[in-house]
Amino acid sequence: MSSTLPPPDQPPEDVESDDCLPAYTYLYSPTLLQGRVAFITGGGSGIGFRIAEIFMRHGCDTIIVSRNIQRVTEAAEKLRGATGRHCLPLTADVRQPQTLTDAVEEALRTFSRIDILVNNAAGNFLCPASSLSCNAFKNVLDIDTMGTFNASKILYERYFRDHGGVILNITATLSYKGSVLQVHAGSAKAAIDAMTKHLAVEWGPCKVRVNGIAPGPIGGTEGMRRLGGAAAESIGMWDTIPLQRLGNKTEVAHGALFLVSPLASYVTGTTLVMDGGSWMTLPNHMASVLDRWSSEMRKSK
Ligand code: HXC
Ligand code: NAP
Repeated sequence: MSSTLPPPDQPPEDVESDDCLPAYTYLYSPTLLQGRVAFITGGGSGIGFRIAEIFMRHGCDTIIVSRNIQRVTEAAEKLRGATGRHCLPLTADVRQPQTLTDAVEEALRTFSRIDILVNNAAGNFLCPASSLSCNAFKNVLDIDTMGTFNASKILYERYFRDHGGVILNITATLSYKGSVLQVHAGSAKAAIDAMTKHLAVEWGPCKVRVNGIAPGPIGGTEGMRRLGGAAAESIGMWDTIPLQRLGNKTEVAHGALFLVSPLASYVTGTTLVMDGGSWMTLPNHMASVLDRWSSEMRKSK
C-alpha cells in the first residue's frame, strides 16, 4: 500500500528573508496561545521574528525589542499585517537594565500582562581566541548571558513572581564540542544553559517555567551568514548532518511554541536541541574555518 504521508523530518514553510510566511499550515490548535502576551528580545529579525510570527498566528500578542527602533517598527508592521494580532515594537539594549525596565513598563501599560519572555537577542562573529580582545569576549557575554539574566530578573520581579510565567532562552550547541573560533559565543551560551537550570529550580515554586532551545545551523539568518553558511553549503557540509540539511526558522519557532504553551506544562529546566543531530557529526575543522576567517579579514581591510 503506498503512503501519501510526508516524511517525519518534513520541514514546515519558511522564507529566507525577515518577512512573514505567505502560507502557513497549522499543526497545533490556532488558539494555543490565545490571550497570552510574549516579550521577545531580538524579535525584529531572524529566528526571533519567526518566533513572534508563529506565536501571533496562535493567538498571542507580542512585544518585540531590540536596539534598532526602525528594525522592530518595520517588523511589527509586517507581523500585524500577516496575523491580525497586536505587536508593540520597543527599543532596549539588553546590556542596560534600565532600558529593559522601561520597555517592560511600557508593555504592561499597553497589555496589562506579560506571560512569556523569549531571550533571543545575541551577538556573534567568527574569531580565533588568540585574536579576540578581552573586550570582545566580554561584549558577547554581556549581550548573550547578562542580557538573558537582566531580562529574566526584571520580568520576574515586575510580573512573573506574582502571576507565574514562562521563560525561553535561545542558546546554541557551540560548547558541546568546543566549536572553533567560537569561544566567546560558546561560553556565553553554555552559561545561559546553566542559568536555565538554576532559575527553573529557584522560580518553579512561583509557577515560572524556564527552558531553552539550542538550535543548530538555521537557514535565512544573520547567524548563518556570519558563521560562513554559504561556504559550508558550497562544499556540501550539510550532507554530514544526520538529517542532511539546514534547519529553518519555522522549525525553531515550533519548538518555542511547544515549550511556552500548556503542552509543556510539566517541562522546566531543560534545553531542547533542535539541530538535525548536527552537533554530533558536523566537522570542527580548525584549518578550513581559519582560512575562511583570514580571507574575510583580508576583504574587510
Ligand atoms: C573580532 C570583534 C568583531 C569581529 C567586534 N569585535 N566585531 N572582534 N571579530 N568580527 C570586537 C570589537 O573590536 C570590540 O573590541 C568589541 O568586539 C565590541 O565591538 P563593538 O563593535 O563596539 O560592539 P557592539 O556595537 O556592541 O556590537 C556587538 C557585535 C555586533 C556582537 C560586535 O556584531 C552586533 O551587534 N551583533 C548583533 C547581531 C548578531 O551578531 N547576530 C548574529 C547572532 S547569531 P575592542 O577590543 O576593539 O574594544 C548567533 C549564532 C550562534 O549568535 C550559533 C550559530 C550556529
Ligand atoms: P539575528 O537576526 O542577528 O538576531 C539577533 C537579534 O538580537 C537582532 O534582532 C538584534 O537586533 C538583537 N540584538 C543584538 N544585540 C542586542 C542588544 N544588545 N540588545 C537588544 N537586542 C539586541 O540572528 P539570528 O541568527 O536570528 O539569531 C537569533 C538567536 O538564535 C540568537 O540567540 C542566536 O545565538 C541563536 N542561534 C542562531 C543560530 C543560527 O543558525 N542562526 C544557531 C544557533 C543559535 P538589533 O541589532 O536591532 O539590536
